[in-house]
Order: sequence, then structure tokens, then C-alpha cells
Amino acid sequence: MPGISHDDQARTWLLRTPASAYGFGLSPDGATVRHLHWGAPIEHEDLNVLAGRPDDPSVQRMAWARQPPAEYVPWGGLRFDEPTLKADFPDGTRTIEWGYDSQLITEEDGATALTLRLRDRRYPLAVELGYRVFTSTDVIERWARIRHTDPGGQPIVLHQALSANWCLPAGDHWRLRYLAGGHVGETQLTDTVLTPGKLVLESRRGITSHQASPWFALDHPGHADETHGEVWSGALAWSGSWKLVFEITQGDRLHVCGGYNDFDSPLALPPGADLVLPVFCGVYGTEGTGGISRSWHDYQLGHVLPRRSGQVPLRPVLYNSWEATGFAVDEAGQGELAELAASLGVELFVVDDGWFTGRTHAAAGLGDWAADPAKFPRGLDPLIERVHGLGMRFGLWVEPEMVNEDSELYRAHPDWVFHFPGRAPAEWRHQLVLNLGRPDVAGWVHAAVDRLVTDHDISFLKWDMNRHFSDPGWPDELGHNPERAWVDHTRNLYAIIDRLRSAHPGLDIESCSGGGGRADLGILARTDQIWASDNTDAADRLLIQDGFTHAYAPAAMMCWVTDSPNPFTGRPLPLSFRFHVAMAGALGIGGDLRRWSAAEREEARQLVAGYQAIRPLVQRGRLYRLASPRDGGFAASQYLSADGGELAVLAWWRPRPYGSYPTALRLAGLDPAARYRDMVTGEEHRARVLMQAGLPLPPRIDYGSQLFHLRRA
Ligand code: DGJ
Repeated sequence: MPGISHDDQARTWLLRTPASAYGFGLSPDGATVRHLHWGAPIEHEDLNVLAGRPDDPSVQRMAWARQPPAEYVPWGGLRFDEPTLKADFPDGTRTIEWGYDSQLITEEDGATALTLRLRDRRYPLAVELGYRVFTSTDVIERWARIRHTDPGGQPIVLHQALSANWCLPAGDHWRLRYLAGGHVGETQLTDTVLTPGKLVLESRRGITSHQASPWFALDHPGHADETHGEVWSGALAWSGSWKLVFEITQGDRLHVCGGYNDFDSPLALPPGADLVLPVFCGVYGTEGTGGISRSWHDYQLGHVLPRRSGQVPLRPVLYNSWEATGFAVDEAGQGELAELAASLGVELFVVDDGWFTGRTHAAAGLGDWAADPAKFPRGLDPLIERVHGLGMRFGLWVEPEMVNEDSELYRAHPDWVFHFPGRAPAEWRHQLVLNLGRPDVAGWVHAAVDRLVTDHDISFLKWDMNRHFSDPGWPDELGHNPERAWVDHTRNLYAIIDRLRSAHPGLDIESCSGGGGRADLGILARTDQIWASDNTDAADRLLIQDGFTHAYAPAAMMCWVTDSPNPFTGRPLPLSFRFHVAMAGALGIGGDLRRWSAAEREEARQLVAGYQAIRPLVQRGRLYRLASPRDGGFAASQYLSADGGELAVLAWWRPRPYGSYPTALRLAGLDPAARYRDMVTGEEHRARVLMQAGLPLPPRIDYGSQLFHLRRA
């Protein structure tokens, strides 16, 4: 049974998920929480045997290397590996010595939580290690709350305060898989073999970043693949600068700690205050990388993404104006696009950048969040009413954390941006970052967005963030820990979004940061979907989307069909291929529909209807990546309903020599005794044949594609 058990005598704790176990115990002196197990299910008696073993037979006789793997690594004593917590006390002492304080296990609906309290033996510093396990997923949540326990004392400065430390079982070969890339090439699955020493993945950019995602998967090379083998994976719920440290130390022990990036970020903990660090999740599974992805998706659908009436709502088919009209937005042009979008079956019409005062190009207007009277002389409402009249919801693009120098906001409050008085702040896309760490700025941003969604019938915001931080100065706070802005910006962003959502329960939000620069579990807890990349070339998208699904649910992956040739890459691609690629997540259309022929629009209408029929499978089903776009020309994904009764398969043919494409595709996870009927051809297939010999594939060549929809007969 999933849950958490505590053995008071042995002073051990065992966390059980449906298919894994995680355990730790107190060292005999009560000073260290020793990590004991993360892997296959075990019993508490097994854990107690591990607790009774010496720390590490290979090094136990050598005092200088005797520290056991620790759950949460304080810096101090004989500790030489990456610490999770490093603190400076007012008297100059810079080390921590824990003693055990207490523990509390609480049952929640479908979950069990443990709080383990440790205190410094001498100084007013305490930590609560938080753990939560669920009956419905193998993902384990961990976090830490750091407390200054003397309200009358002096501040304690935290130089490193990470959320958790994950210890991997002993073993000397590890393959690390992670998501790296850049703007227009996000979430590329990347791998490397870890060797002794440290490997750091991080963002120092104030946001999650396009360059790396706070997610990892570890396995033993040659012992795991997409479908089989043990994998240990982790993901951090934080959308500001972050770091993950992978370190192999003496004794071939790998540990991974992560959380806020400590770069340029000492945090002063005021007397009596506490600091709750972001959740850092881990999951273990034996069904390869595919099984781990499904665990992440289940967890996000069950416990992370915003829910309504008990479940994550299906994402509407969306139209977005950006690639069609750029900044040339006006009431007539958007109305025309809305008519065309509605005729295709679109359910949500989104006006992107360009609608607000002075926004005729990227260099002006950001910060002045009112409709441009030159473009919308009657305001936004007539367009919104027209969109509603067409049966669609209305959405709007905003970039609330930003300002152009050429704006009323900047002219009124030049001091609101991050800057150092002696330096000219670097502009990027002609814009500067508002310091949301400042309560007045955060309050203004909240009020500006709240006014927009209160004054107009807007049920969707695309929340963009088109540059990374530079010059993170906060001159007014000189001498008062201005570096905390790195953390406070994101905390206040979260608070703003949380307030907006609670005041406007019908509001959906898409997280965008010049594409997929802000994709992580933290933002997923408060937004409904992520714009995965500005690269809308379907051929490139296959790789971006493949990587994205390793960590994040397809339901949260917004994908548009745009024009051909693609406006950025110039690559011409068939409409059906573009649609079938975009159907792998939440479908959107972002092309200039005015330039699509009547025949193309009719084909698009049918493809949208086809997507709507399989949408619950893609967005709520279980994803099996049957053939990877990383392996060659042919790629395919299968989406299976939770009860195994229905599935969709998307198959994509990319350039490969004629005659070298597969002729059948082996399906996965079906009920072996069942027969499945093809919903288009009516043909019936035996599940065992589909899984062993495969689903016959039609002959297709470059950029062909096919959607299969099967239901249990
Ligand atoms: C970057 C986004 O990723 C695009 O989709 C678009 O919204 C532009 N910003 C608008 O400036």
C-alpha cells in the first residue's frame, strides 16, 4: 500500500509509492539523516537491515571519507561534496550541525506527507524536510523549509539553499539524459555519461531558460531504453534561475541536488522568518524512459496542472494571430481571421502581440496595457463580441514583466526596471525587465492584468516573457540583500498569477517565454499550457516536442499549424503533416488563413474535426513513443486511454531513402486478448498481432503522415 511508515526504534522512514520505495534513517548520533534506498519496492524490515549496515564498506575505515549519503547535506564537518544548505551565522560561524527534532506523518486525500524536523545544535536555524507520496503515481515530492527560530536575533545568511538531495544507489556507470537547446530549438533530448566530479545544469537567466530544463533521467548505460529498464528521474518546480548538480564522489556514489541557483544570490533570512524552497520531485520506474515519462504525465494531470471540476480540462483548439499579422493588428483584420478560424472549428481565438497602445513594432508600447485607439477605435469589446458570436472564446497576449523605454510606464517609472545606477542596462528586443521583487511593481503588474480581464470578457491570456535578466540591480535596496530579487521576482510572479486565477476562475493562461523558455513544474502548477517553441516548422518541431514529452504532459504542449513554406525556415511541408505534428499536443493554428486556399481550409476543417475526436486520448491518455524522430526518418507516437479501450497513433515520415521505411508499427500497452477496430476503415485487428507484428503502415514517403484511431471491438 502506498504511504509512509516510521519505525520509532530503528529510527527509519519508508516511503512507498505504487511501484517504488524510498527510505532513510537517522544515524546513531541523530546528527545525519542517512539516505538508505531509492528504487524497487522493499519492506520496512528490509530498510532496517540497510540501516544497520556500515555506511560504505569501501571507505568506512578511512575517517576522512566516512560521511554516509545524506538526505539533506548541511555544509560543515567532514563534508566535501555539494551541500544542499550553507549558512553564515551572525558571529561568523559558517557551518551547520544538525540534531533530530521531531517528525509528523499526515494523511491527505490520496496522499501521505511526512515532515522531518532538524535543528542546528547551537544556532537558531531549523529545517523541515517535506515529503509527499500519492496513491496514484510513483512521483515523490520533496521540499525543505528553512526557519530562523529566534525572532529577536540577527539575520542568518544562506549562501546555498537547495530543495533536496537525491542519492542514487551505488553503481559506477550512469547515463544522464536531460533537455537542452536554445531559442527555436528547445527541449532537445541530450545524453552524457557521468564520470567522477561534478556536472552542473543551470539557468542564470532569471527564468527557466530555453537552454536547459530542470529535469533529468538517470540510468545505467546499456541497461535501459525507451521501453525497458530502471530509470531514476527528477524535476524541479521553479521558474527562476535554478541549478542541478550531479556529483560522483568517492565510492562511486552519485547524488543530485537542486533548487534555487545560488549564483549571485545570498539570501538573508530575517529573525523569525522562514523560507519554503521549491518542490523537487523524483520518480523511479522499471519501464524505461517511456514509463518514466508516463509517470511525469500522470503526476502533472493528477496533481500539478490547474483543474476544474476535479480534472484538467481538455485544451480548446486555438487560433493565434502572431504569424499571420505580426504587429499589424486591427479590428477588421482580426475579425476576418476570426471568421475563417471559426469556420475551421477553432474554439479559442487569441490576438497576439500588437494590440496595445503604441505597439507598431517591438521597440514601443510594452507596459501600456490598453487597446491602441489607432487600431481599435471602438476598443477591444466589439472584436470580443464578434469572436463570441462565432462560438469561440477570446484570448489576448500580454508580456506583463516587461517594459519598452518608449512607453508611458517607463517614462513614469524608470526606476522600476532591474539596473545598476552606474551602468546602462542591456536591452534585448528593445525591452527591459521590471523588478517584480519590488512589492509596488508586483502590485502594479497585478492591477494592470486584473483590470484587463475584469474590463473585458477575456478567458485566456498568453503570458509572454521575451528576454532573460541582465543587470539585476535594485539600487533602493543597497545593503538590504538586493540579490534576493532573483528569487522574489519569480515568487511574486507566482503570487500574481495565483491571485488572478482565484479572482477569475474561468481564466486560462499559456506560459510563453519567446517559445519554451519557461517550462517547468512550477509554472505548470499555475498555467494551463506552454508554448513549446517559436519554431513552428513541423519537421523541427518533431524533435522539440519529442523532448518536451519526456518531462511534460502532451496536454500542456501548445502546437500550431502555420504556413508553408514555413516563414522562418522556408521549408515547404504538406498541410496534413503540419497538422499531424501539431496534433501530438494541444492543437492550435497560427497561419495566415487569409492566404490558405478554399481546398486547404476544407482539409484543415476535417483535420481539426479528426483531432477533436482523438483529443481526450492525446491530452489524457498514456503516451508511448513508438518510434523516435531522433533515430531516423520515421517517427510515431501512440496515445492509449486509461482503460486500454481506445487509442490514437500519429505517424510521421521524414526524408529517408526510398524503400527504407518500416512497413508495420508495433503498438504497445494494449489488452492482449482484445480486438481493436480502425475507426476509419472498419478493419479489425487482434491486439497480440498489433503488438508483435505491428499495425500495417501505408506506403508513404517524405513528410507523409497518418492518424490511426482504434477502439476495442
Ligand atoms: C514571442 C512568442 O513566442 C511569439 O509566439 C509571439 O507571441 C511573440 N513573442 C510576440 O512578440
